[in-house]
Amino acid sequence: MAISAEDPIRVLIVDDIAETRENLRKLLQFEADIKVVGAARTGEEGIRLANETSPDVVLMDINMPDMDGITATVALLEDVPFAQIIILSVQSDADYMRRAMQAGARDFIPKPPSGDELISTIRMVSVKARDQRKKMTAPFHPDAPEGGVVPGVGVLDIKGKLLAAYSAKGGVGVTTLVTNIAIGLHSESTPTVLVDTNLQFGDLSVFLNMQVKTSIVDLALYVDEINDELVDEALMRHESGLRVLAAPPRPELADEITSDHVRKILQYLKRRFAYVIVDTSSTMDDTTLAVLDSADLLMTVATPDIPAIKDARLLFDLLTVLDFPLERVIFVLNKMDRRTGITAEAVAENLKCTVDGSIPAEERVVATSINRGEPLLLTDTNRSPAKNILELLGTIRRRLLKIEESEAEYSKSQTGRLTAR
Ligand SMILES: Nc1ncnc2c1ncn2[C@@H]1O[C@H](COP(=O)(O)OP(=O)(O)OP(=O)(O)O)[C@@H](O)[C@H]1O
Ligand SMILES: [Mg+2]
Repeated sequence: MAISAEDPIRVLIVDDIAETRENLRKLLQFEADIKVVGAARTGEEGIRLANETSPDVVLMDINMPDMDGITATVALLEDVPFAQIIILSVQSDADYMRRAMQAGARDFIPKPPSGDELISTIRMVSVKARDQRKKMTAPFHPDAPEGGVVPGVGVLDIKGKLLAAYSAKGGVGVTTLVTNIAIGLHSESTPTVLVDTNLQFGDLSVFLNMQVKTSIVDLALYVDEINDELVDEALMRHESGLRVLAAPPRPELADEITSDHVRKILQYLKRRFAYVIVDTSSTMDDTTLAVLDSADLLMTVATPDIPAIKDARLLFDLLTVLDFPLERVIFVLNKMDRRTGITAEAVAENLKCTVDGSIPAEERVVATSINRGEPLLLTDTNRSPAKNILELLGTIRRRLLKIEESEAEYSKSQTGRLTAR
């Protein structure tokens, strides 16, 4: 995230007591040059939010249930080395303070802090954060507004990118591929969320061997108050670190969710994650249209058989009608089998499009991976079809980077125009 000297100082609060978090937030809310970008309830959440929000300053509590402030300071600075940590504590034990400073904390303020002292300390240490941040090439940190939409979020803000996966024909392997792509895209510097908008019969959680405890219904019900806390509660966490927003556990619950809910949820997730990956149902209904509306890239899958290729052609026609640019489409052929006599070249020629990925049919390997809930990219990637999915992942990454670069260029040119006024 490119932060300029004019941007407000980004502050992250880490404290297990809700009242303290609220008080700190209140003390800072009227300072135009300070923005609270997140509030964490535990050390672990603090480290995660620091990765996601890229704070200049962290207000760190000492006694937290999962880890103490010193341990959290060490771990957080490993990930976000430019962050300046201010320890807030009722104890002013000299030995503890010395250890905190050795761990990398920048300052100490006794609890409860006075507004003036807190604000002036934040301003003072933030100078160093900005200086150090400038010297580093920071990885992607999605802007993570807490407690709702940040006013002023507009075209100039860098947002996460949304990759939708759709096929008009069912059973072609969309869920298999998109699960692996999401696993491959997720990393500490590119936090990723995988969303199931096949609201009636979504099965993403099965592919990841996860039991649905929370789902998109939990967010849809409170969509007008959506905030980080609600999102964190509704998302499940796969063992790879990938976050998952599952389809409702029962088909009838799909009636609770409107396309407007889906649109709002996706827009919010795009602000919090580097990549939002969406598995859609095969029906081109209002929900799928809402996903397409938010999509930066669309992956569509077909198998080498006449009905699937016919549906792919109809989809390309529909995308043209919808004004969805075809250069934002990734077309993948799955279950390729020499014995059918249908080659990728023949399909490309027939549909007048590029085939961006070709995945061989490997019934046994794929079925075993799905039945175990173990995505292929987490197994031996030298073997087919994992190796082909890895190639597809590379193509998708390059396309996403290209979109990010062109948007950053555009954003830069707009900033230039604004400052030139
Ligand atoms: N490369 C492949 N080789 C062999 N079989 C595959 C391959 N990819 C997927 N399959 C099989 O195809 C079936 C459908 O896969 P998947 O559920 O991923 O498709 P889908 O397009 O998401 O289907 P749905 O319309 O039900 O959402 C599964 O049984 C899976 O094992
Ligand atoms: Mg599916």
